This record gives sequence, structure tokens and C-alpha cells, in this order.
Amino acid sequence: MGKRTWSFQIFCLLLLILYLPISAKLCSHYQTSMLLQFKQLFSFETRQPSGCGRLQSDSYSKMISWKEEKDCCSWDGVTCDMMTGHVTGLDLSCSRLHGSIPSDSSLFSLPHLQILNLAFNDFNYSYISPGFTRFPNLAHLNLSVSSFSGQIPAEISHLSKLVSLDLSGNSQLGLDTPVLKALVQNLNELQELVLNSVDMSYEVPSFLTNLSSLTSLDLGNCGLQGSIPENIFRLPNLQNLILSYNKNLTSVFPKVNWSSPLRFMDLYGCNFMGSIPASLGNLSQLTYLDLSYNNFSGHIPSTLSNLQQLRHLDLSNNKFTGQIPCIFANLTQLSFLDFSNNQLNGPIPSSVSRLHSLVTKYLSYNSLNGTIPSGLFTSPLLESIDLRNNQLTGSISNSISELVNLIDLSLSSNNLSGNVELYMFAELKNLLGLDLSHNSLSLSTVLPVNSSFPNLSMLSLSSCNISEFPDFLRTQHRLQILDLSDNQIRGGIPNWIWNVGKDTLNHLNLSHNFLTGIELLPWKNLRYLDLRSNSLKGSIPFLPPSLNFISVSNNKLSGEIPLSFCNMNSIFYVNLSNNSLNGMIPPCLANSSLWFLDMRMNNFHGSIPQTFSKGSRLTILNLNDNQLEGSVPLSLVNCSFLEVLDVGNNRINGTFPAWLGALSELQVLILRSNRFHGPITYSVTRFPFPKLRILYLSNNEFTGVLPTRYFQNFQAMMHGNNNSAEGGNMYINYGNEYYSAILTVKGVNMEMEKVLNIFTTIDLSGNKFQGRIPEVVGKLNSLKGLNFSHNKLTGLIPYSLENLTQLESLDLSSNKVAGEIPWQLTSLNFLQVLNLSQNQLVGPIPQGKQFHTFSSDSYNGNMGLCGFPLSEKCSNDEVTEPIQDREEDDTWSLFDWKMAVMGYGSGFVIGLSMGYSVFATGWPKWIVRMVERKQSRNTVIRMLIQGARGRRN
Ligand SMILES: *[C@@H]1O[C@H](CO)[C@@H](O)[C@H](O)[C@H]1NC(C)=O
Ligand SMILES: *[C@@H]1O[C@H](CO)[C@@H](O)[C@H](O)[C@H]1NC(C)=O
Ligand SMILES: *[C@@H]1O[C@H](CO)[C@@H](O)[C@H](O)[C@H]1NC(C)=O
Ligand SMILES: *[C@@H]1O[C@H](CO)[C@@H](O)[C@H](O)[C@H]1NC(C)=O
Ligand SMILES: *[C@@H]1O[C@H](CO)[C@@H](O)[C@H](O)[C@H]1NC(C)=O
Repeated sequence: MGKRTWSFQIFCLLLLILYLPISAKLCSHYQTSMLLQFKQLFSFETRQPSGCGRLQSDSYSKMISWKEEKDCCSWDGVTCDMMTGHVTGLDLSCSRLHGSIPSDSSLFSLPHLQILNLAFNDFNYSYISPGFTRFPNLAHLNLSVSSFSGQIPAEISHLSKLVSLDLSGNSQLGLDTPVLKALVQNLNELQELVLNSVDMSYEVPSFLTNLSSLTSLDLGNCGLQGSIPENIFRLPNLQNLILSYNKNLTSVFPKVNWSSPLRFMDLYGCNFMGSIPASLGNLSQLTYLDLSYNNFSGHIPSTLSNLQQLRHLDLSNNKFTGQIPCIFANLTQLSFLDFSNNQLNGPIPSSVSRLHSLVTKYLSYNSLNGTIPSGLFTSPLLESIDLRNNQLTGSISNSISELVNLIDLSLSSNNLSGNVELYMFAELKNLLGLDLSHNSLSLSTVLPVNSSFPNLSMLSLSSCNISEFPDFLRTQHRLQILDLSDNQIRGGIPNWIWNVGKDTLNHLNLSHNFLTGIELLPWKNLRYLDLRSNSLKGSIPFLPPSLNFISVSNNKLSGEIPLSFCNMNSIFYVNLSNNSLNGMIPPCLANSSLWFLDMRMNNFHGSIPQTFSKGSRLTILNLNDNQLEGSVPLSLVNCSFLEVLDVGNNRINGTFPAWLGALSELQVLILRSNRFHGPITYSVTRFPFPKLRILYLSNNEFTGVLPTRYFQNFQAMMHGNNNSAEGGNMYINYGNEYYSAILTVKGVNMEMEKVLNIFTTIDLSGNKFQGRIPEVVGKLNSLKGLNFSHNKLTGLIPYSLENLTQLESLDLSSNKVAGEIPWQLTSLNFLQVLNLSQNQLVGPIPQGKQFHTFSSDSYNGNMGLCGFPLSEKCSNDEVTEPIQDREEDDTWSLFDWKMAVMGYGSGFVIGLSMGYSVFATGWPKWIVRMVERKQSRNTVIRMLIQGARGRRN
């Protein structure tokens, strides 16, 4: 061979190398232009939806790399068949696509597509085009979290090769039953069906269980109703089952024959009932089980011990009873355990020490007793322990200091005792939250100042016998929550305290101590401030505008309300009661965001602010025991949420504020001991005061006849005991939070609902009412107290009072009531206080039952009465001896304070304080509110934990 041949061959080779890329361009010109046309549909301005992970930067879109000169098979997100050059896969997830896909889109001219993923984009709430069915080979379709809306088209069922279908996270998308049926009939190869958040608000049809190839089914948050077919749990290949957040899904578990491959089961927040069958223990592959926030009851089956693969076990917020079975010995993989908020009792099984992988352990809000097993603090990975609100006894083991990963420890509200050196926690460098409140611990807070608790953000040492501010607080710069309430801290507040959590503190509770002064509140992010029940003197300092909640009740504060009250834009709770504050009430309080205002027992004067505005959320207004003048402001009618109005013990004049009848939520109206005058008038409201339960008009100068028309309308006083379910709930709606108010009666705290049921009361005593006692009073059959004393009433005692079967106190004294005492009153079985003295009653006193318990004081000053207990014998004495053996009833313990409240007619000090339990836990609701889904503290902790991890890394 000659040189030339060689050169020619080399030349050819070069040519080949040069041209290879061109001749090997896999993608056809047609496909390239279809894809480029498709690209034209979108702008890329949309922000990246969350869920795309951190790998892709904000400005990234896969389509940016799509250029005509390049082989389309090399474009980002495009996959081709290497033999044919057909485009078989398109993955444009998280590509910031913004626009919509019409049914004639060029996308649908790629018939060889097998995989199509458009998840996490923004298709602007357009419909899913029927064009999506023009992919006869499509096996995987993912349109999740992409802002599609409307009904899923029936044509989707033509995709008969589909293996996985994910339409989740499109909350405006709906799936009709007929379409679902077609889907089930035609998609015989379907393995994965993800419809989370798609609207399916109907009962799950049983044909869904025909999808026998399914391995994953996600119907979470679909609005499912009714019960779910048992056979869902028996799909032979099912591994993952998610039904969470279907509140109306009312189902029970099948007793037997579970689908054995199940690995992941999430039923959080449904309405499952009944018990967990023992057969659940046969699911030996199970790694994740979340049954929290349902209505499960019964015992936790011991067969759970067979679930040796289990990593996550959440049975919290159900109604499980009995002891925690010894299931832990073999659960060596378990890292998350939550049994909180059930009714479990007995000891914590010692086998918890075998949970070597445990990171999180929540057993709070049960009735667990016995000591904390020593092994509990030995799982080396533990980060979070919550045993709050149980009945655990014994001491806290020193071994806790070995839990170097501990982030959160909560042991509050148990019966733990013994000495605790805070020192043993100080070395836990990751500790964010420590709560030892409400035990019987003796705390030693002497610690090296600089090296302690470098990360602490929540410290709750309420009721820990502390007598001074712990020194180590000096270096706590990250503290957000500090609760030292209910201790014996005396005197002034040391100056260095102002630096504790200077930029971070938002919750400070120093209530129930012996503090004497507070000069400064320098925390600019403070939201919750509780200083009640100390000995604070002087005036209220400047308040940070960030406050939501302030209570300084039960102190000795004086001076006027500072103007800073008017700068607090999101304040909702103000309690200044029981101080010596004076001056006028600033008008700004009337049109603020308040729902709770308690200023009783001070020396405020001037008038009540006149400008309550429409949309006011004011629910409880208590101005009792001041020196307020003028009239009840008409503008209160704008407070349509008002439940309690108490202006008693002031100098308010004017006539009866009949317009308050329009406040349909009003339950308590107290005008007693003022200067109201004139007859009781009526307003145009057709059904006034429908929810009123407590009416105090006593000690005024009302005249005229008793308000018969109101008596006819007091619906809430009319339904015996049966109405406690509907009417009795005094829950105050604040945003998404529900606080239950508490009424303080003579120092007795009780849930408002209970109190309201007990204190269904009318007191019109000490006025100038005249005329008869109307028959219609007998209709108010939930009344517990009735006081018409010290008026000028005449006529007879109506027989209808026999129907007041709940009545415990009846006072008609000091009137001009005449005639005989109706013997029917002996049927009032609960009557404990009766005062008919100083009237014009005659004839024999009824005998028997409660009547033998009343002394002559009940009848004095009636010239014509005779019989027991008076010494006058009746002339024709047919009266029987009083029955000696009175049946013991167990209501007597309530008797003392009821006497105080009603018997003397003077002691009804009504006071309201916040649902203290909500706040006593140390975790204020505004933090919890940050968490949209699980409103449990656990999630907050998890967030903090994530924060801490971030900080550490
Ligand atoms: C539950 O059912 C009730 C009554 O049918 C309905 O009003 C409510 O909206 C449903 N709730 C949910 C979350 O679907
Ligand atoms: C734990 O597993 C072992 C071996 O698999 C078994 O023999 C033992 O009975 C199991 N213990 C419990 C309490 O289930
Ligand atoms: C724990 O409570 C159970 C009943 O709930 C009781 O029988 C048992 O005696 C209690 N144990 C201790 C140690 O208090
Ligand atoms: C009510 O009190 C105010 C202020 O004390 C007084 O000016 C007014 O005359 C009084 N009105 C009546 C009707 O007594
Ligand atoms: C007591 O109530 C019953 C049932 O509502 C009624 O029939 C009766 O007339 C009432 N008694 C009186 C005295 O009004």
C-alpha cells in the first residue's frame, strides 16, 4: 500500500470524526421543534415552590438549556430511546414553568413518552387537558403541586399502561366518582396512586379495592367521608397507605387479614374508632405507623412487639386506656415514640431501656405512675423527652447528664421529688428547652455562670421552690421563654435581668411571687407578660408595643394607665384587676384588638369609653368595683362577640340598657350596685338575651313591674340540664385558637362552662320593683338562684316555682308577698337556701324534704306563719313531723361557696382570668400557631430541633 492510500484513509477518518456528531444527532428535527414550541408556552418568572429541595437554585429552569443547535436528547430533563431517538421521558419538575398547556399543545405530539413529570410548577389553575391521554405508552405521570384546577378529565383512564399517577398537592383539583371508576377499570397496571389534597369529598367506593397491583395509595387530605372499605387494608401488594387529614373518615380497623407487605401507614387526623386489633402485629414489615389524632380506644395490643422493623410509632391524641404493654424489647429500630394525650396508666415499662435508637419520646398527658425507669435516660441518641402531666414519682436520675444529644426535656406536672442540681443539665450543650415545673423538687440553681446552657431558649421552673433569680440567667442571651412563676422570689427585680434574652425574649411569667417593683420592660419582642399576684408597687412601666397578653392583676400598682397601652396593636388580653390604679380608662381601649379586658377592683373614674367599634372582638369586659360614672355606652352593641359584661359596683346611672338584648352571645350581665333607675324597658330585638344565664340588677333604683317579657325569652335558662352541650360552652374564639375562660368565684377557679351551668341566676334584689311575681318565672327551669328580695312585690308566691327543679337558693324576703307558702315548693329537692322573711305570708309552713333543714330565720317577720321551725303551732295541726334521715347528697361541698355567693347576696365577685392551663405549659400559643398542621408542641420542638441542627452544622 502506498503513502497516498494511508493519507486518504486518515483523511476519511478525520471526516468521520468531524461529522460523527451531526450524523449521530439522535433527536429528530420534528421532536426538536415540538419541544421548542412547548417551551414557548412558559415564562420562567415564578418563584420556586417549596418542596424542590436546595439543590436547584432559585433561578434554575431546565428549559433554559434547550437550544436548537444541540441534540434535544442531551437537553436537560429530556430522555431518549438510544436506538430509535424517540423522546421517552420528560422531567420538568421544579422548573419554574409558569403558563398553561392547551389541548393542542405540541407536548402532545410526542407519542413515545413513557415518563412525564411536570411536578412543582405553576400552571396557573388551568384545567388538565384531555391531551394528556395522547401518550399510549405513558407509564409515569406526575403533575403534583402544580396549580392545576377543575375536574380530572375522564380521558385520563385511557392511559392504560400507567404504573404511577401523582396528582397530589393540587387542592383545586377534583376527582369525580365516575372518573375514579373508569380509572380503576382501565389502569390495570397501576402501582402508585397519589391523590393527596385532591377533592374527593365522598365515601370511598369499594371498587377502589380492585386496584390489586397497588403498592402505594395516598388519599390524604381528600375530604373523604364515611367509612373506608376494609379491603383497602387487604390489597395484596400494598406497601404504603396514607389517609391522613380526612376528618370525616369514620372507620374501624379490620379484625383480620391485613395486607402483609404494608410498610408505611399514616392515618393521622382521621376519625378512626374502636380498638387496634391484635392482628396489626402481623404486619412484620411495618416501619412507620402514625395513628395519632383519631378516636381509637381500648388497650394498646401487646402484639405490637412483633413489629421489629418499626422506626416511627405515633399513637398520640387518642383515647387509649390501660397500661403500656411491654412491647419494646425487640423494637430496636424505633427512633420516634409518641403516646401522649391518651388515658394510659400504670408504670412506664422498664423495657424502654432497650430502645437504643430512640431519638424522640413523648408520653405526656396520661396518668402514668411509678418512677421513671433508670434505663430511660440511657438511650444515647435521645434528643427529646416529654413526660409532662403524668403522676410519676421518685427523683430525677443523674444519668440524665449523659444524654449529650438532649435538646428538650419536659418533666413538668408530675409528683417528682428530691434535690435537683441544675448543674447536671448545664453540660448538655444542645439543650434548648428545659421544663421542670410543678413537681415537688428542690432545685439548686448554683452553677458556673459562663459555661451553662449555651443554647437554652425555653426555661420553665414554675413552682420549684426558688427564692431568688438564678444567677446563671445572666448569660442567657437566647432565651425566648422564661417561666419562674409560683416561687418565693422576693423584692425588687435585679437590674441584670433586663439583659436576659434582650432581643429574643417573648414570654415572661413571674406571677405568684413576692416581687415588689418593676421599673423597666426593655424586651422589644415581648408578647406575653404575666406578673399577676405579686406585691408590685408604683405605676405600670412603659409597655413594649409587641405585647399580646398582659396580666398584672392582684398587685398594689397605682397611678394611671400609661399611654403605651394605645400603641399595642395586637394586644388581646389585658388584666389589671385588683390594684389601686386610677384615672380615666383611655378611649383607645374601646377600639383596640382586645377580646379580654378586666379592670375590676381599682379606682378608675370618669365614664366608660364610648367608641366601641364595629368588628370588635371584645368578649369579656369587666369593670366591676370602680368609680365609673355616666351611662353604659350604646356602642357596646357593636361588640357582637360579647359574652360577659360586668359594670357592677360603680356609679353608673341611666335606665336599663335594653339594646344589649341584641347581643346574641351575651351570657353574663351584671349591673348591680349602681344608680340605674326607671322601669325595665324592652328594645326592638325580637328574641332578646337568648343566651343570658346570669343577670344581676340588684341594688339599683329600678321601678315598675318585673320584666316578664325577658323572662319569657331567656332560652338559656329554660332547658333544664340538657342544654349543657349546646349552650354551656364558653369558648372564646381567637383566630384559630380556642381559650376556655375561667371564672373566679371567691377564689375558686372553675371552667366557665361549669360555672355557668351552676350559676344560672337572676338577682333583682334591692330595687323598687312592684306588682306580682309572674307565673312565667316557673319556666326558667335551669335556674339555680333566684333573688327578688328587698323590693315592693305583692301578690302570692306562684305555684309554678315548683318547676324550678334545679333551684338551690330562693330569696323573696323583704317584700309584701302574701298568702300561703305553696306546699308544692317541697318538690325543690336541691333547695339549700330559702329566705321568705319580712313578708305578709300566712298559714302553715310546708313540711318534709328540704323544708326541715331551714331555720326560723327563713320565715321571720311574717306575722301569720305557723308550724316547724317556728314556735307558733298551727291551729288545725295536721302537719307531719319533719323527716329525720335526710338523704346525704354529695353536692354539699359546693355548698360553702354557693352560700357565700348567693345566701348573702353580696359576695358575688365575678372575675375572669385566662385559661391558665394553656399558658402554664410554658409554650405560648403564638408559637404553636406558627405550625400550621400538627398543632402540637412536638412540632414546635421539631422545628427548634431543626434550627439547632442548622446552628450546629
Ligand atoms: C365533614 O362533614 C360535615 C357534614 O357533612 C361537613 O359540613 C364538613 O365540611 C366536613 N368536613 C370536612 C373536613 O370534610
Ligand atoms: C424478641 O425476638 C426474639 C427473636 O426474634 C424472640 O425469641 C422473642 O420472643 C421476642 N421477644 C418479644 C418480647 O417479643
Ligand atoms: C398506679 O396506678 C394504678 C391504677 O391506675 C394503681 O393500681 C397502682 O397502685 C399505681 N401504682 C403506684 C406505684 O402508684
Ligand atoms: C348621670 O351621671 C352624670 C355624671 O355624674 C350626670 O351628669 C347626669 O346628670 C346623671 N344622669 C341622670 C339621669 O341622673
Ligand atoms: C310545671 O311544668 C309542667 C310541665 O311543663 C306543666 O304541665 C305544669 O303546668 C307546670 N306547673 C305550674 C304550676 O305551672
